[in-house]
Amino acid sequence: MRELIRTRSVPVPSADRPRRLRRTAALRSLVKETRLAPGQLVMPLFVISGRNRSEPIESLPGHARISVDRAVARARELAQLGVGGVLLFGIPDRKDDDGTGAYDAAGPVPSALRALKEADLPVVLAADVCMCEYTSHGHCGVIANGQVDNDATLPLLAEAAVVYADAGADIVGPSGMMDGQVAALRAALDAAGHTETGIMAYASKAASAFYGPFREAAGSTPAFGDRRGYQMDYSNAREAIREMELDMREGADILMVKPALTSLDLLARARQRFDVPLAAYHVSGEVAMLEAAAEHGWLDRKSAGLEMLTAIVRAGAGIVITYLAADAARWLREDPAR
Ligand code: PBG
Repeated sequence: MRELIRTRSVPVPSADRPRRLRRTAALRSLVKETRLAPGQLVMPLFVISGRNRSEPIESLPGHARISVDRAVARARELAQLGVGGVLLFGIPDRKDDDGTGAYDAAGPVPSALRALKEADLPVVLAADVCMCEYTSHGHCGVIANGQVDNDATLPLLAEAAVVYADAGADIVGPSGMMDGQVAALRAALDAAGHTETGIMAYASKAASAFYGPFREAAGSTPAFGDRRGYQMDYSNAREAIREMELDMREGADILMVKPALTSLDLLARARQRFDVPLAAYHVSGEVAMLEAAAEHGWLDRKSAGLEMLTAIVRAGAGIVITYLAADAARWLREDPAR
């Protein structure tokens, strides 16, 4: 064996031994700075029409497009696990150019909200507000002259938000990145008497490659072009803060940043700057990467999953929307010292 290089031994100052507090599991638990709790996790659910239907989503193992009755059963399980909320997305039977299904009171999301409200579970009912699941072209607004028309889309989003609030949503989440959408929703909700319905603004939402599996699930891949004309450039941090500032001014109750793991700096900056709850959306592609690697045995699903979620919370998110919500809640129960 090669002889070790003899170093002049420099004594480590007694005060500089952080390893002291890493020695045992009990010590590590005592000094842990970031703890996850099931109550801060929100599970996205994809709702379709019909009864007893479940169509698995290939790129999101364990997730499916489910009918209202199944969504209620799933929410019941999530409530038992202590998960804090569900975020509903609807996939209509028919899509059209103007996305009219978004504000159809008989559509999957309002139907699910009514059934969930009736079930009276201790979970927050949130509904995503966007046109892309409902438009035949897959864009997040109505098209005029080959472009997504911002101002023509606002009244449709507002109408959808009111329909979801009527059906029992506690929170609506506008995700289309239309300018002025939070103000439009707040005004419409208040005018309809829904002064208590909260708005979780997808304030800083990047045009990201990590939404792929979601678009497979929702059939919402744009038929032409992409979303870079309305979603943010992920290169821009100052602009992200400005987006949050605007949403605050427009009346957002919760600010959301998305995707999560590629925006940890934004979460940290937002946490310093704004005194409202901050949410992060751990999006479909982020979870799909984990699932694919775990499937190959390249990553340990549980430890890598908890590490991801902890980093998101450490960066500043108090609420994490994640497809791992159910499993993470289980993992945290098994090992509450985390
Ligand atoms: C709708 C919407 C999307 C996501 C949430 N709301 C898709 C998109 O913007 O293309 C993505 C969520 C995910 O990837 O998990 N506008």
